[in-house]
Amino acid sequence: MSTDIIVSGMRPTGKLHLGNYHGALKNFVALQEKYKCFFFVADLHALTTSYEHTEDLAHNSEQMLVDWLSAGLDPKKCTIFIQSDVPEVSELNTLLGMITPLGWLYRNPTYKDQINELLARKYAGQLKGDENTPLAERVKGLADEDISVYGFLGYPVLMAVDILIHKASLVPVGKDQTAHLEIARDIVRRFNEIYKTDDVFVEPKPLYTEVAVVPGLDGHKMSKSYHNTIDLGEDLDSVRKKVMSMYTDPNKKKASDPADPEGCVVFAFHKIYNPNWQKRCEECKAGALGCVACKKELFALMEPELKGFLDKRKIFENDKAQLQAILHGGKEAARASAAVTLEQAKRAMKVIK
Ligand code: TRP
Repeated sequence: MSTDIIVSGMRPTGKLHLGNYHGALKNFVALQEKYKCFFFVADLHALTTSYEHTEDLAHNSEQMLVDWLSAGLDPKKCTIFIQSDVPEVSELNTLLGMITPLGWLYRNPTYKDQINELLARKYAGQLKGDENTPLAERVKGLADEDISVYGFLGYPVLMAVDILIHKASLVPVGKDQTAHLEIARDIVRRFNEIYKTDDVFVEPKPLYTEVAVVPGLDGHKMSKSYHNTIDLGEDLDSVRKKVMSMYTDPNKKKASDPADPEGCVVFAFHKIYNPNWQKRCEECKAGALGCVACKKELFALMEPELKGFLDKRKIFENDKAQLQAILHGGKEAARASAAVTLEQAKRAMKVIK
């Protein structure tokens, strides 16, 4: 067991898809064996952009928990909780908000990207240019008032709090979160400088793990907003249909035509699910196998894992008492850990004696 502490969270955006699973969740499941881990459903972070649509928030948080448990996160091995169940997070967020310069937040590239992405979704019919035009150009001139809110600008402060409050040294995240982690480290340094201390917070580092890149059915990044996902909890008939509809090399017209596996979605999935994917690559290039047979074999390889997941999902989803008990235990453990750091921070800031 390492002495490093790990914190990571995901915003509850509904059911997880295979991109989330191979890109993050599977890694969480491995990490719980080696580190002291805190994994949480970031429902407050979801509010920073979806504050107008909260009717599904609690349901989505529960669905995410069910996905996590079904994938193998084990409350005996790690602390699993909902962010808003730990009020200490919101209190430390207030305190660290006092010392975070606005410039850091306005300059945060994720802030700008996300504003553009959200605008693109909202004004989908009115975007300028085409798919190849950079997003920032496509949304130019469209209203931006809806996410010009304090909470969204403060997203990185809240994220820093999530991490710092448990003194995490390692944070498993995607490369897109690098700027957020830098802000977290900057906040620690500024806190230390202002309050002449160095033993309240730990400077967290990102933990990038080699993960499989899962394309969506159409070959673009798998993402809910592109409608190209296979969900973890999806019924198998539907998955089979999606596999059969996956994008392949358009130059391969007959089963015996040689093809280029690079850029073929079926091949990208074989790389994940087929231990003999290299052989498959050769066969594809040689025109030794048609796409239909290749897709059928892929589905057969995916089926056992997906079925195992679905079976577990059914059990967890219907056992509300167990879900409540897990969340209660997680909340207690997370609050206990958070309370220690919060008190130290308040002492350093002389909010308490
Ligand atoms: N910002 C992260 C994301 O969008 C989610 C998140 C919130 C997070 N708080 C965190 C991740 C703390 C790691 C640690 O993916």
